[in-house]
Amino acid sequence: MSVLHITGVTKTFPGGTMAVDSFSLDVADGELVCMLGPSGSGKSTLLRMVGGFEQPSSGRITIDGEDVTRLPPERRPTGMVFQSHALWTHMNVFNNLAFGLKLRRLPASQIAVKVEAVLDLVGLAGYGERMTNQLSGGQQQRVALARSLVLEPKILLLDEPFASLDQHLRERLREEVRDIQQRLRITTLFVTHGQDEALSMADRIVVMANGKIEQIGRPDVVYRDPKTPFVAGFIGMMNLIDGEVRDGQFVRSNFRSALPIPDGRATIAIRPESLDLIVSATPTAKVHRVTDYGSHGLVDLDLADGTRLKSVVGHPDLFKAGQGVEIRPRVMAAYRDDHQVYRSQA
Ligand SMILES: Nc1ncnc2c1ncn2[C@@H]1O[C@H](COP(=O)(O)OP(=O)(O)OP(=O)(O)O)[C@@H](O)[C@H]1O
Ligand SMILES: [Mg+2]
Repeated sequence: MSVLHITGVTKTFPGGTMAVDSFSLDVADGELVCMLGPSGSGKSTLLRMVGGFEQPSSGRITIDGEDVTRLPPERRPTGMVFQSHALWTHMNVFNNLAFGLKLRRLPASQIAVKVEAVLDLVGLAGYGERMTNQLSGGQQQRVALARSLVLEPKILLLDEPFASLDQHLRERLREEVRDIQQRLRITTLFVTHGQDEALSMADRIVVMANGKIEQIGRPDVVYRDPKTPFVAGFIGMMNLIDGEVRDGQFVRSNFRSALPIPDGRATIAIRPESLDLIVSATPTAKVHRVTDYGSHGLVDLDLADGTRLKSVVGHPDLFKAGQGVEIRPRVMAAYRDDHQVYRSQA
């Protein structure tokens, strides 16, 4: 059952920037949806409208059947962790978490119980007396998360909560957040730049560009079958090659591949792991560089016109810079006018 309905929401800022453009999304109870997209694509604006920190210019937002479009943040069942998190530095951790509960006039004994439970949940049991500026970056993010969770929101809104942290910590925290989110079964909208984050955490991904949805789907589906060249180039490593189709053949420089679509311009997309290299007497590409990652290798190649391609290979020692190779796509998709027009059977 859907808890959150976003219907035709548009946000135009004074001055004319259309940050979000007729956006619609239904989020199921307990679902974690990741919003992914380049800087300025409208992710924060959308989240802020769900949280009540920004008013839509048009459209409707309902939570559990109630129209919240015009309600202020404190009257919505949402909790938000902001892109630049702001803990109250003049308060200790306990008071940061207790603040919202005090506003709700809960008795002190209940507040203490709830705060302790949430601190335990985010791995900060015993940190109540600490001032927030005496915490590491990761601990501060956990306090920010705990401060939202302690109010027991129906919907959790997270805007790049780990952006300022190093990769190692980010990976650990996203696993923790996923665990907590699943344990509490809390419906979550999570904004991130990090595709790894989105691919590993999300039940569904929403890819945004220019305030619009490019694609919505399960992470594995969006990765395997991007519906637009933008999504193809945005999620994961991808070889995107512009070329010309003539008589059922895609042609770019000296590279040719069967492509059963009408003649004309097209862009093909091939994952590096789907581009096979064959040592051959009739090479179509030249090896530029071989990088050995231990478990696999990455080969950079150039077509005759300098188009750079990448291929993931199991045995990097078979290839060396300067060598000529033949390239064979195992799986590919083709796009024309921003739409997918062909996809080979994997
Ligand atoms: N208060 C505002 N007034 C005017 N324009 C704004 C305002 N807030 C955002 N914008 C514009 O709206 C567009 C979307 O901004 P938004 O912050 O939603 O992007 P984002 O996807 O969150 O980007 P980032 O990944 O950099 O955080 C941008 O062009 C931005 O400049
Ligand atoms: Mg943002």
